Amino acid sequence: MSEGAFISFEGPDGSGKSTQQRLLGEYLTGLGYSVVSTREPGGTRIGEKIRDLTLDTENREMDALTEAMLYASSRAQHVAEVIRPALEQGKVVLCDRYVDSSIAYQGCGRALGGVVADINALAVGGIMPGLTIFIDIPPETCFDRIGRCGGDRIESEDIVYHRRVYESYLEIAEKFPNRVKAVDGRRGAGEVQADVRAIACGYLGQRA
Ligand code: TYD
Repeated sequence: MSEGAFISFEGPDGSGKSTQQRLLGEYLTGLGYSVVSTREPGGTRIGEKIRDLTLDTENREMDALTEAMLYASSRAQHVAEVIRPALEQGKVVLCDRYVDSSIAYQGCGRALGGVVADINALAVGGIMPGLTIFIDIPPETCFDRIGRCGGDRIESEDIVYHRRVYESYLEIAEKFPNRVKAVDGRRGAGEVQADVRAIACGYLGQRA
């Protein structure tokens, strides 16, 4: 078992999770932790190329299973190249999206079901976050925040799709209460960050 700590951030598009991750990373670094901040899809040179493929609005014909496998491929590379080595070196890894995103966006959003968990089990080889911070904010509120037009290939899906994704996140949070901690994302970034810090520090302290 690795010595480091793995924390993922999850939530709808426009939930502000990237900002929350950045602020937490700065805070933990200030406390003396060695932090690796990364994201999915992407996080590696190869992963960033896969990211471009999955998010390109020109790839309208992309099959749902192809999409799920591309996200899982990006993840496998990410685990091998970044996450596993960092954990072995005792670092705190903060990751913007991980397996839960695939369960929500492909498993539920694209209605692929359980096959997504199977593909991802293969991709991550047992590396799962000990803590997942779920920025809980309804997709309708996010739509209002980021605007309804444009965005990447996934963001430009309609509200019905994003509702399914959100409902899936709620199910995941209910199914894994020890790992997944929800934070009310409808408030200002400072208030959300106070909760994020308290949860993350509680988790890191309990492991020390
Ligand atoms: P991201 O860059 O996190 O977008 P945002 O900052 O707007 O939340 O993620 C890009 C998109 O990829 C996002 O719409 C969610 C989608 N996605 C999946 O559909 N499945 C996945 O496994 C991952 C990691 C992301």
